[in-house]
Amino acid sequence: MDLVMIKAIRGTKDILPGEAARWQAIEKRARDFFRLYGYREFRTPIIEETGLFVKSVGEETDIVKKEMFSFVDRGDRNISLRPEGTAPIVRAYIEHGFDKRDPFQKFYYIGPMFRAERPQAGRLRQFHQVGVEALGSYSPMLDAEVMMLMCAFIDAAGIKDYTLKLNNLGCRDDKGRLSKVLKDIFTSPDVGALLCDDCKRRASTNPLRVLDCKNEACRRLVRERFSKIDFLCKECRDHFEAVLRFLKDAGIKYEIDPFIVRGLDYYTKTVFEAVSGQLGAQNAIGAGGRYDKLVGDMGGAEVGACGFAVGIDRMLLALYGDEPAEEKDDAVSVYVAAIGAGSYAKAFGITNALRIAGVASDIDFESKSLKAQMRLADKLGVRYVLILGEDEINKGEALLRNMATKEQVAVKLENCVTEIAKIVAGK
Ligand code: HAM
Repeated sequence: MDLVMIKAIRGTKDILPGEAARWQAIEKRARDFFRLYGYREFRTPIIEETGLFVKSVGEETDIVKKEMFSFVDRGDRNISLRPEGTAPIVRAYIEHGFDKRDPFQKFYYIGPMFRAERPQAGRLRQFHQVGVEALGSYSPMLDAEVMMLMCAFIDAAGIKDYTLKLNNLGCRDDKGRLSKVLKDIFTSPDVGALLCDDCKRRASTNPLRVLDCKNEACRRLVRERFSKIDFLCKECRDHFEAVLRFLKDAGIKYEIDPFIVRGLDYYTKTVFEAVSGQLGAQNAIGAGGRYDKLVGDMGGAEVGACGFAVGIDRMLLALYGDEPAEEKDDAVSVYVAAIGAGSYAKAFGITNALRIAGVASDIDFESKSLKAQMRLADKLGVRYVLILGEDEINKGEALLRNMATKEQVAVKLENCVTEIAKIVAGK
C-alpha cells in the first residue's frame, strides 16, 4: 500500500512550540489591554447557522458569496465555520437577553476564523482575530474608544509603521442614497465598460464595493467620478465630527479616506482600518466600524454598536516577517542533568519537586552523556542546569550551573528545591 503523506490543508498553518510563545504574548497583551478598557471575554462556537452570516455580513459580499466553509450536517442543517466574530457576538448578545436586560456591554474575543480566500502572504483560510464589540450605545465617544483601543493594542505590540484610516458611510438611508447614485454611474455603458469584471458585477449588486476595489483602472475611475457626491445627512455628519474631535483630543493620529467601504454589509457611519506599510497587498492589520442596525436586524432591540478585529497572523507578519521563532522563547528554567543510571531516580524526584514549587523544570529521558545533556540545555535556552552524579548524591549535594555566567555553585540536596527556587526567582 502506498503511504501518502497527509499535510496541513492549504491556507492553514501549524503553530510550532517556539512560535506559540509569540502567540501567547499577543493573546496575553490583548487580555490585559481589553480588561483595562472594561471589555470582558466572550467565547462563541466556531460553527454557526449559515443564515447568521448571510443575514448580517450580507448575501452579496465576497465573504458570503465565495469564501465561507459551509456544509449540510447530518441533521440537514446548513452550517458554516465562522468567517468573522461580530455576527456570532450579536447573535449571542440577543440570545442571552443582554439587549433587553442590560444593553450596554463591552466584549472581546480571541480565536480562529475561516475564509476560503486564495492563500497568499498575510491571507490564510484559517486565520486568527482578536476583536472587541461594544454594544448598546450610539455615542460617538464609543467609536473613538474602540479606535483608540485598537491603536493602543497595535502600538503595544511594537508595530510602528501603520496608519489609522477612517471614513463615514452614513446611516442606512445615506448608504441607500449613495448606492443608488453609484449604481447609476457605474452601470452607465461608458463607465461600466472600463470596470474590472468583479466591479461590473458589483456595480449593480453592491455598488459601494466598487469604491474600494484595488484594481488600478477602477481606482482611477472612482477617484475621477466620486469625490463630488455629498450624500451624508446632518446627523451622520455631526456624529463623524464628534468622533474626530474625540480622537483629536486624545492625540490619536488618523487619515480620512473616503474610499474605505469594508467588505461587510452591516456597517453604518464610522468605518476604519489600520493599514501597515510593511505588509504588501494584504495590508490591513485591523479594521472595524459601527453597526447600528445589526442587532435590530437580527431580531434584537434597536441598539447602536461598534467594534474592531485585528488579525493576529498579520500582526506577527508585520513584527517578524519570515524570521523563524526561537525555540528558546518558552524554555524551562532548570534542566536537571543526571549522570549515570543510578542518579536518575533522585534526579526525577528533584525535577518533580521543583515543578511543584513552581520552577519550570525538565530532565533527560534518554540516558544521554553529560556533554550531550549540556549541549541540549544550551540549545533549549534554559537558565540553569542542575548536575547530579552518583558522587554528588553520595556527598548529599548537586551542582547548579548558571548557563549565562558559567558559574557553578554546590547546593545541598536536603533543601535544594527551596534554594533553587530562590536563585531562579533572583532572590
Ligand atoms: P475584517 O476586515 O474582515 O473585519 O477582518 C479584520 C482583520 O482580520 C483584518 O484586518 C485582517 O487583519 C484579518 N483578516 C481578515 N481576513 C484574513 C485572512 N484571510 N487571513 C489573515 N487575516 C485576515 C471583520 O472581520 C469584522 N468582524 C471586524 C469588526 C469587528 N467590525 C466590527 N467589529
